[in-house]
Amino acid sequence: MKNSLLLILLSILTLSGEQAFSANKPNPSSPPDRKWWKEAVVYQIYPRSFKDSNGDGVGDLRGIVEKLDYIKSLGIDVVWLNPVFTSPNADNGYDISNYRDIMREFGTMADFDQLLKGMHERGIKLVLDLVVNHSSDEHEWFKQSRSSRTNPYRDYYHWWPAEKGKPAFRPGAFEVDGSGWRYDSLTNAYYLHYFSYKQPDLNWENPKLRKEIFDMMKFWFDKGVDGFRMDVIPFIAKDTAFPVITQKELQQKYNGDWSQYMGSGPGLHDYLKEMNREVLSKYNCMTVAEGAGVTVKTAHDFVDEERNELNMLYHFEGVSLGYLPDKFKVMDPNGYKLTEFKKIYSKWDSVFSRKGWGTIYLGNHDQPRMVTRWGNDSLQYRELSSKMLTTFLMTMRATPYYYFGDELGMNNIKFDQIEDYRDIESISMYQQIKNNGGDLQEFIDAQKISARDNSRTPFQWDASQNAGFTSGTPWIKVNPNYRAVNVAAEEQDENSVLNYFRKMVRLRKHNPVLVYGAYKLLVPEDPQVYAYTRTLGNEQFLILLNFSAKKADFALDKKLNPAFVLINNYPNIETNGKQVKLAPYQAVVVRMK
Ligand code: GLC
Ligand code: CA
Repeated sequence: MKNSLLLILLSILTLSGEQAFSANKPNPSSPPDRKWWKEAVVYQIYPRSFKDSNGDGVGDLRGIVEKLDYIKSLGIDVVWLNPVFTSPNADNGYDISNYRDIMREFGTMADFDQLLKGMHERGIKLVLDLVVNHSSDEHEWFKQSRSSRTNPYRDYYHWWPAEKGKPAFRPGAFEVDGSGWRYDSLTNAYYLHYFSYKQPDLNWENPKLRKEIFDMMKFWFDKGVDGFRMDVIPFIAKDTAFPVITQKELQQKYNGDWSQYMGSGPGLHDYLKEMNREVLSKYNCMTVAEGAGVTVKTAHDFVDEERNELNMLYHFEGVSLGYLPDKFKVMDPNGYKLTEFKKIYSKWDSVFSRKGWGTIYLGNHDQPRMVTRWGNDSLQYRELSSKMLTTFLMTMRATPYYYFGDELGMNNIKFDQIEDYRDIESISMYQQIKNNGGDLQEFIDAQKISARDNSRTPFQWDASQNAGFTSGTPWIKVNPNYRAVNVAAEEQDENSVLNYFRKMVRLRKHNPVLVYGAYKLLVPEDPQVYAYTRTLGNEQFLILLNFSAKKADFALDKKLNPAFVLINNYPNIETNGKQVKLAPYQAVVVRMK
């Protein structure tokens, strides 16, 4: 095979997406059901770690305002901001004590207004994080609710009177004992919290509570925000009888997965329809559910247009791949199989091929850095594999959610000791494993790959102290590779990960085939290459991604013309037109017709 391959090394013209396509405009026949949020690229900012404007070591809104031109330069359309509301920060803002004000550490409402204005002036939309499965235990509602059994706010939360005995088990994700109930002696009752005890679950079965939430959403929409990312929204509805769920039942009905149980409470879709009717339908907005517990079978219930609920959701099947089943985020020593990866993303593409619309992401504030988890963060391949993963995200039929810092190729910090972690999840899991006499070293090693704090380290602006993020002491350590990996350095380098991201965004934005075109997986069994076509009208793009550190062969059934390579993370492509030899982590997008 090798010998028969006529290897031609061809230098590719350095055409940007725009140049390539002004000469060759896409088919004007517009695809059905176009929506701005389908065509958008979403850029997620973790405000705590983006830019600190006042030297207290914590990123803030004024910091984002300072960097709006940078954000604009990426070419993205929408910014999703993690929660910026008043919060005691048990879970970095996912525990809100006032939904209508800004966290002091992040600034003031005036700063927020300025940020929103600055984004809109630049044509960027702003999506906020809606955290309404639970509030903070320091929210006024909860203070009232716990004060007495007859308080008017009692039914804003879920209480179980202790005289009925212990409530049936529900999981509490961030609790050392794993329980989702906490006893409160003040009224001799337990309250429900699916996360930490600092995050009591709101009672959506109460219409008064729903009205409060809807009014609050209107408050932000009336300010001009463009949408919401909805935190664990499938969890909001509960069977308030809180029946016992046996292992057998959990297995049979929910595949043994608590999040599937929690994501299918009885009133769920009524509440979402009501939210749509009362709020969402009145604004030109976008919504995306954090699809915890959502499966290919239930996905349509959230996002089909005619159901009038939400626009998009993101699933967990992809990012869960490769972990051992009975351990907490410990990677299978054999890594993940690309064939499985392809199967999952192809399946989810087909879920939305006729109805609804998908999302695609490989990183966010709950995931480690994508290049460490899905690429290769060694010195040799960090940049190449970052670009390859970016190519994947920007060429799928789904709205890309791109996590800040991935455009620089930022990788996991890999802390050696628990003391460096700030995340409630890592800290409580460590304690849980310790209490159970488990293997702490295994946990620390696994966290180097999977911990959330890996993606929460400060953004790397330049080579000055603390990567230019803060003049003070950063709230979490800066990745020591910042002297090489930072915006300032990458701006200077035409071939940087940053500039590749910008080109890739442009390519997507200028080619509807990359947004709406039909997706077809090629070579599903190939263990190294992820290859697919995107086709719209009489246009077809071929995407070739080598997910491995070894060269990989790919055979075509028709001729590939190297002059039509639109983007390539290498200077060349090795091909005779019918066969391609992909270099390690090589990514190319080629126009086929
Ligand atoms: C979501 C958030 C995560 C948070 C949790 C509880 O999964 O993305 O960061 O810890 O909900 O609010
Ligand atoms: Ca600050």
